[in-house]
Amino acid sequence: MIEVRELSKIYSIDGQVFKAVDNVSFRVQRGEMMSIIGHSGSGKTTLLSLIGGLTKPASGSVLIEDRAIWSMSDDDLSEFRNKKMNFIYQFSSLVPTLTSLENIMLPTAFGDYGEDVAGYAKELLALVGLKEKENSYPSHLSGGQQRRIAIARAFINRPDIVLADEPTGDLDEETEAEIISLFTTMNKEAGTTFVIVTHNKDIAARAGHRLKMANGVVSEINAG
Ligand SMILES: Nc1ncnc2c1ncn2[C@@H]1O[C@H](COP(=O)(O)OP(=O)(O)OP(=O)(O)O)[C@@H](O)[C@H]1O
Ligand SMILES: [Mg+2]
Repeated sequence: MIEVRELSKIYSIDGQVFKAVDNVSFRVQRGEMMSIIGHSGSGKTTLLSLIGGLTKPASGSVLIEDRAIWSMSDDDLSEFRNKKMNFIYQFSSLVPTLTSLENIMLPTAFGDYGEDVAGYAKELLALVGLKEKENSYPSHLSGGQQRRIAIARAFINRPDIVLADEPTGDLDEETEAEIISLFTTMNKEAGTTFVIVTHNKDIAARAGHRLKMANGVVSEINAG
């Protein structure tokens, strides 16, 4: 479903060339849960944004359902991204002037998602345990609550793929377990494919396919 081929991303800072992602190749099968672990600065967020079509690679390709995303026009890429995948960003990404419910519904503003988007948004809000915060603005929510809204938002367009960057970074253990169970349910019932960057060893270990990243280079972690 996702094929990453010899992907590299180079940053140059003060004339120094730096490979944040260094010739990375791997595949993610449809319906797979993949985890990526690695030290801070190893290139995980950069890799996710290359896969998600947000950052352009220096070389290499990303194929999603056999389509090379970086060969598409900007419009096609936006539409493809909107229909196929959604992101849970590492840092808060809610729109401050929209309520919880409006934030969750935002990804559906650019396409036809059927009638009951609001109903599904409310369902998702309940699934992340924030039913009573429907009309709250981000500034009136805790960091972990904002994070949960961002998680709910990732599912609103019923994406085939969810790219999650430290999705449970600021959640307590109990809430974290609820979020993981939501992911597991979406994975089993809707067949959603997940790529999850995490420092949490339990989450990483539960994934069927595990990668480790160090200095821009990815390696497979074998089961067992
Ligand atoms: N826009 C940028 N310009 C220059 N360097 C960058 C840029 N974005 C990231 N980097 C560098 O690329 C490297 C990888 O960053 P990245 O954010 O991918 O790491 P990460 O593995 O996600 O780390 P963390 O676990 O702390 O989130 C870091 O050394 C970072 O400083
Ligand atoms: Mg990161």
